[in-house]
Amino acid sequence: MLTKKEIFKKAYKELETRRLNRKIKEEENLKKACDICEEIEVLYKQMNLTSIKIARSLISKKSDITKTIENIKNENLWVQKKIKELLIKNNLPSNFLNPKPFCEKCDDYGFVNNERCSCLEKLIKTITSEQLIEQSNLPKLTFENFKLNLYLENGEKTSIFKHMSAVFDECKKFANNFNTNCGGLLMHGLTGLGKTHLSLAIAFKIIERGYTALYETSSQIIRNMLTTNFSLKENKNEDSYISLITKTDLLILDDLGCEFSSQLNKSAIFEIINLRTSLNKPIIINTNYTPEELEKIYGERVISRIFSTLKIISFKGSDNRPKIESQKIKKTYIQI
Ligand SMILES: Nc1ncnc2c1ncn2[C@@H]1O[C@H](COP(=O)(O)OP(=O)(O)OP(=O)(O)O)[C@@H](O)[C@H]1O
Ligand SMILES: [Mg+2]
Ligand SMILES: [Zn+2]
Repeated sequence: MLTKKEIFKKAYKELETRRLNRKIKEEENLKKACDICEEIEVLYKQMNLTSIKIARSLISKKSDITKTIENIKNENLWVQKKIKELLIKNNLPSNFLNPKPFCEKCDDYGFVNNERCSCLEKLIKTITSEQLIEQSNLPKLTFENFKLNLYLENGEKTSIFKHMSAVFDECKKFANNFNTNCGGLLMHGLTGLGKTHLSLAIAFKIIERGYTALYETSSQIIRNMLTTNFSLKENKNEDSYISLITKTDLLILDDLGCEFSSQLNKSAIFEIINLRTSLNKPIIINTNYTPEELEKIYGERVISRIFSTLKIISFKGSDNRPKIESQKIKKTYIQI
């Protein structure tokens, strides 16, 4: 799991690689051009002497320095023009010796006027999304690949279909209006109804909008909490696990209730929910249990936290997994 700092580091590393690749390409192209046309090599070497010439004139202080520099500059421009002509004459593009950067706005440095360039923003979002895919161990589940027709019953738009259409719209609205203190959701319902799918769809959407998201199942989160020290007061280290789940803009706590039931695990779950809700930071909790069943498992303390801060969304219908499988089989059958 990467911290915000590590995500930035990874993005900068990628920019560095882009710059390095351009340098390599530049050298390869120069070698090619010089092999094809000897004159280019001579002119290129002449151009490279410019800085030495300027330094010499600065040291000698003999003549009018401004005028000398102006002359050198003009000479340099002439050489550049000549090189371009020779490149074209030899059927090479005029910018062959200066390959284009990945991003022309920032020259692959990631900043324009001290502001983050859009290419750096894009890189950060891509790395964050990739991390979410890795954490969930699922393909990229989005609003676009969520199918409402799976909730049709015998092809009919029954109340279940209408209910799930409203759930879909609600989740989209949550993602579009998301901010760092917009509350959270409790998604409950039987297995295979799309809870994980829609919570990840929300996460990918908010990452696109520049936020961060972290996905954990309740068993994973408990394991990680218990292997580190789960008290925030004693664990202020920026890179600590507790700091990570505190700082992320959205925390998805999946499969609540599937963890091994023990007093220690229950108090770890309470810590997490308490931590996020008391800071007013968004959390999405997914569970197969009804709110009443959750109350029996975790007690009133957890439930009152959930009810007072999260919007409850119930998922209805029948398991979509077999429907998806049978659609896949039908597709293969048609293709054969
Ligand atoms: N409406 C849907 N459109 C497309 N794919 C769906 C839909 N519903 C479920 N799926 C797919 O079916 C699989 C199971 O769905 P998902 O994991 O979201 O269910 P769940 O409600 O989280 O189930 P569980 O309670 O067992 O965790 C996933 O691969 C998911 O992408
Ligand atoms: Mg799930
Ligand atoms: Zn850029």
